[in-house]
Amino acid sequence: MEIVPSPDVIGAEIYGVDLAQPLPDAEFGRIEAAFNKHAVLCFRSQKVDEPQLIAFARRFGAVERIFLTHYAHPTYPEIMLVSNIKESGRDIGHADAGRVWHTDMSYTTRPPRATMLYALEVPAENGVVLGDTLFSSAADAHDSLGQERQQRIAKLRAIHQVAGRRARTGTGQEDQALRYQQPAVVHPVVRTHPHTGRKCLYVSKGESEGIEGMPQDEALGLIEELADHTVDPRFRHIHHWRVRDLLMWDNCAVQHLASHDYEWPKHRRLMHRITVGGTVPV
Ligand code: SIN
Repeated sequence: MEIVPSPDVIGAEIYGVDLAQPLPDAEFGRIEAAFNKHAVLCFRSQKVDEPQLIAFARRFGAVERIFLTHYAHPTYPEIMLVSNIKESGRDIGHADAGRVWHTDMSYTTRPPRATMLYALEVPAENGVVLGDTLFSSAADAHDSLGQERQQRIAKLRAIHQVAGRRARTGTGQEDQALRYQQPAVVHPVVRTHPHTGRKCLYVSKGESEGIEGMPQDEALGLIEELADHTVDPRFRHIHHWRVRDLLMWDNCAVQHLASHDYEWPKHRRLMHRITVGGTVPV
């Protein structure tokens, strides 16, 4: 197995491993260590069916239930379809996923440790691949703040609510109804990574709606400032997709954004998505 770090502050590609086969513990240990270190891992040219994808995800922890249930895979409800493909006029999967910088499901009490996307169809035009996914290191963003700033935000707690500002980017009626069933939750503005101990900024403009005990204007200003800082280009890594890439990311260590630079019916994009359970942010 070969682990090739990207030139960015996060991201690595792993070669010489077949995720369709059960992984010996030692090999999995190296993958998990690489995941904690690089936060975004890409395994190229994988041929994994649904049970194999679920089995690989389970090595990292319990596989989660999908909350946007109408986008679930018809046979494997652990898998959500992320896709712009329409059948009989309806989206077969979540077509709007990731339109704003965010970290997955920060609006839940126990957000997922990891998200995996497996690429079945990737859009392209004139040989140029479309639909990149962008990542940014929340740990490096925190480290780069001055000590005084770090101390000022260290004890703050932010309110996360999916039915808030991010919901305005969703289009489907069903999405909106399910989003409004999620109550607001409160998480530290600075999270300690459960595996590396690194401090990570944990607010996004999409889902953080306020800061406990802070006037709303001031809170939104601070959220905007920290969220913009988190996704500063110097902390970023861009994934250019190829069919059969299996990409996974760490929802404490990074935020991500999907570039929706493709359109139906000219382009088709289809991904299988699965999430692995995480810990309560502290
Ligand atoms: C997501 O935000 O989970 C989707 C990312 C992507 O489709 O590129």
